[in-house]
Amino acid sequence: MNITEEIQRLKEEKDAVILAHYYVTPEVQKIADYIGDSYYLSKVAVELKEQVIVFCGVSFMGESAKILNPGKTVLMPDITADCAMAHMADPETIQRMREEYEDLAVVCYINSTAELKRHSDVCVTSANAVKIVKALPNQNIFFIPDRNLAHFVAEQVPEKHFVYNEGYCPVHEEIQVQEIRKEKELHPLAKVLTHPECPRAVRELSDYIGSTSGIIACAGKSEDREFIICTENGVRYELERQNPEKKFYFTKTEPICHDMKKITLEKIRDVLMNGGNETQVTEELRRDSVRPLERMLELAGK
Ligand code: 13P
Ligand code: SF4
Repeated sequence: MNITEEIQRLKEEKDAVILAHYYVTPEVQKIADYIGDSYYLSKVAVELKEQVIVFCGVSFMGESAKILNPGKTVLMPDITADCAMAHMADPETIQRMREEYEDLAVVCYINSTAELKRHSDVCVTSANAVKIVKALPNQNIFFIPDRNLAHFVAEQVPEKHFVYNEGYCPVHEEIQVQEIRKEKELHPLAKVLTHPECPRAVRELSDYIGSTSGIIACAGKSEDREFIICTENGVRYELERQNPEKKFYFTKTEPICHDMKKITLEKIRDVLMNGGNETQVTEELRRDSVRPLERMLELAGK
């Protein structure tokens, strides 16, 4: 029996389902039951019938699935796979901002720890942040942890006042403007599709800005044949699978999230076999952090 068959057998035996983010390796994407961006995966997580969720992603993703499904078992193939940005804010600053601004909404990117979510009013993902911030009754927005996504949202919602936090994704932050210009020289007809976690200078060179699912949908619908993709290189697999006739280029220094790449088929098989790396969230933390997640699902669905 090969490892894919072994995983298949274990999934049935353990009543398990595999969720994966687009940034994991193609091997892992191929065996996933559901694959998508952070918003899609959080929606799917509340609709599953299986008892065990194997989450092929980083810790905030497994944590969010557990918070939304306390009765289920959430297993992480690699417990050390974490998102650096998820820790780049702190409850003390949130408290200070609440004292400083009346009418403050603390808007928390889902790429954050449960501890940060518990101090927030609503969660967002890159796919729904603009819609949700627009829908909030509050005039003052403290957006944590990502400064780049915050600035992108602020540009789309100029009628509100934003307070910024200095978090960032080290993978998107490192995408170099000179390297995009070089790709544009090499492929003058290519359109630039960019994730909003990128800095402003990269966003300014872009034809489209959106979540990983947004980028994939945009490339699929477009009449254009060539694209320069400014996000993590894991999306290449789905882009090429859906559009074999189109060409996708990345910057010379390919953006790679090494934490996402920690997930392997062997680790998936092992957690399915031995039930290891179970995500744990205390009931008290869960009660507090579920509110902003549920509010996101409610506002994004409207
Ligand atoms: P999306 O899944 O919202 O596109 O965000 C990308 C990301 O960085 C996930 O960690
Ligand atoms: Fe976090 Fe960036 Fe990796 Fe996404 S790509 S998990 S934001 S470090």
